[in-house]
Amino acid sequence: MPDLKEIITRGEVSGALRIAAAQVRRNLPQFTYKCQNHSSINNFYPPCENEQWTCGFWPGEIWLAYEYSGDEIFKYAGFIQVESFLKRIENKTAVAHHDMGFLYSPSCVAAYKLTGNEAARRAALLAADQLIARFQPVGEFIQAWGELGAKDNYRYIIDCLMNLPLLFWASEESGDEKYREIALRHADTCLKYSIRPDGSTFHTVFMNPETGAFSRGETCQGYSDDSFWARGQAWAIYGAALCCRYTGDCKYIEIFKRVLSFFKERLPEDFVPYWDMIFTDGSGEPRDSSSAAIVICALLEMEKLSQYDDSTGLNEYASLAKAMLKSLVDNYSVKDPAKSNGLLLHGTYSKKSPYNTCTPEGVDECVSWGDYFYMEALMRLEFDCDWEPCW
Ligand code: GLY
Repeated sequence: MPDLKEIITRGEVSGALRIAAAQVRRNLPQFTYKCQNHSSINNFYPPCENEQWTCGFWPGEIWLAYEYSGDEIFKYAGFIQVESFLKRIENKTAVAHHDMGFLYSPSCVAAYKLTGNEAARRAALLAADQLIARFQPVGEFIQAWGELGAKDNYRYIIDCLMNLPLLFWASEESGDEKYREIALRHADTCLKYSIRPDGSTFHTVFMNPETGAFSRGETCQGYSDDSFWARGQAWAIYGAALCCRYTGDCKYIEIFKRVLSFFKERLPEDFVPYWDMIFTDGSGEPRDSSSAAIVICALLEMEKLSQYDDSTGLNEYASLAKAMLKSLVDNYSVKDPAKSNGLLLHGTYSKKSPYNTCTPEGVDECVSWGDYFYMEALMRLEFDCDWEPCW
């Protein structure tokens, strides 16, 4: 891992958060009744309908900006988004997949936690029901995509760890343990089979539909089946941290340490990974700044947990988080709104390689979750331990 030369100061965090919140406000006229596309085009997001898996991140930024500033204009726009998300889940528009947490935690759980809004609560609970309907008892996992039970899609993906907090929340909120039960069963399957012996991860994992046994790991958005897709690694790191948060079970701490250790060893000089971690400095490949933002949030979550228990050996993570965030703020964040309507430059959604199956999109662009997690990281440092995420 590179040396922790410089870490971000309190003043720099506050300054960057002010710039981010101002950018969110500047975007309201274009995006109050629309969502932002998953990624920018030449660093500008076009608007889209509420139909993508990524549409929760823009309202998530609105709620972060409201929490940060207390400005009612954000609350007004946030509630318009909540109405749209309630309609989406009631009408089952583009929800035949597992990304209910990415959609409904930042948009509706955040709204409910901050304002007690009943439509937000109802939408998020309906989304949790939609998610558990994808649980496959044969193999014990939540099927990511496609027709339920289809043999050629009988798989889960590492990203789904981030959908589980919606289920933990739904159990706490409804008093019904079934959501939490399914979250734990999925998490245990995923963390058993997705992590390779060296601490790297498979993006997608196929299970045998007859026996439920592990079948094979395959990439979709990484370079190849045996490479190290940066964002998959980041989802594993934050996913393990959130399992710690919701269960207090030490087994997740060990998993967190393993996946983080692999990530740290592959970080380039400026702490921002290339889109696949087989690439290093000098490769000429694009970065994925969003992976850095996700990992910073995970590190700060674990740092927070360690405040209550210093026997876990976790309280070293804040300095790494602050070094990574310094790099993002100084060299990756948007400072001039004439150059971009996003918050964080140099993300990579899906880069085509000869060995993967993705559609090429959003290469070296802003990506909506990159913006969201960048802002979450800043909020975590601005408000210290008192701050509660939507996850
Ligand atoms: N969940 C898909 C991605 O991270 O691109």
